[in-house]
Amino acid sequence: MSDTSIRTVIIPAAGFGTRLLPATKVTAKELLPVYDRVVLDFAIDEAVGLGAERIVVVISAAKRAIQAYLADHAPGHDPCLSGDPRGIGPEIIFVHQDLPLGLGHAVLCCRDVTLPGPFAVLLPDDIVMGPNCLAEMASQYTDGHMIAAMQVGPEETSQYGIFRLGGLPKGRCLPVAGMVEKPSPGLAPSSFGAVGRYILDPMIFDVLENTASGKGGEVQLTDAITMAGRIVPLVAFKFSGTRHDCGNHDGLLAAAVARQAAVRQETAVAGKMTAHSATPAAPAHAIVAG
Ligand code: G1P
Repeated sequence: MSDTSIRTVIIPAAGFGTRLLPATKVTAKELLPVYDRVVLDFAIDEAVGLGAERIVVVISAAKRAIQAYLADHAPGHDPCLSGDPRGIGPEIIFVHQDLPLGLGHAVLCCRDVTLPGPFAVLLPDDIVMGPNCLAEMASQYTDGHMIAAMQVGPEETSQYGIFRLGGLPKGRCLPVAGMVEKPSPGLAPSSFGAVGRYILDPMIFDVLENTASGKGGEVQLTDAITMAGRIVPLVAFKFSGTRHDCGNHDGLLAAAVARQAAVRQETAVAGKMTAHSATPAAPAHAIVAG
C-alpha cells in the first residue's frame, strides 16, 4: 500500500437540513430519495469505489435513523452497493457530534478513529455523478490538502468556500494560496468554489484543534485548510463529474432526474447485452456495518 492510499472516508451527516424543511423535521436529509436510491447511498458507493477500509459517519442523536439504515447493509443484506474493487468492503463506524459546531468540528470528532495516512472527507449533500470524484482526486494526490473545485457564478460565491488561487494550473490541479468561506460576490478571490470532497493530511487535526469559530459562529474546515496552507501544499482539483447540491429542493430534484436518466440508460444497455449473451450478472458485494 502506498503512503498516499486513502484508508478512511469521513461522511459528516449531523447537520439539520434546514434548507429541506419540512421533510427534514423527521427524516434525515441523507435518507431522502434520489429516484431509486437515497442521498447517502451515493456517498457510500463513492467511498466503496475508492477502496476505503473504513467509513466514519458523523451523526447526532436526532439522526440515528442513518445508523439503522446502514445496519441493513450487513453481510448478506447488500441490495445495492456497487463498485467495491477489493471485494470485501469497508467497515462502517459512527461518531456522534451532538453540538452544531460546524464542519471543522465534525472532522475533528473523528480524529481517534481515522486510520493512519491521508484521509478523505465526503459531504453527502454533494452528489457527484459520473466518474468517482474521490478516486479521481486520489489518483492525482501527492501530499498536503486537495479539495474538489468547480466554477461558480458571482451570485453563488456566498454558498461556497472560494479558492484564492496561487500558481499555474497543472492538468486538473490548481495550486491554492488559501480559501474564504462563503464570501459576498465583491469579496470572492476567484470564481472557483469548493465542492464537498477533500483529501486531507492528518496534520489538519492539530490545526483544527486551534481553529477559532469563523463564518456563522462555526469551526470552518475552510479556515483550517487556509492556516495549514502555510505548512503544506493546497491544491484545488477540477473533477470531471456533475455535481448536484442535494441540500436544497431544486438540487435534489435535478439529481433525481439525472439518476432516472442514468438508470434508464443502464437498463437499456443491460437489456441489449442479455439479448446477446447468456452470461449471468456478477453478485453484489457486501460491506460490514459495525
Ligand atoms: C460546505 C463548506 C463549503 C463548501 C460547501 C460545498 O458548506 O463549508 O466551503 O463550498 O460545503 O457544498 P455547506 O454547504 O455545508 O454550508
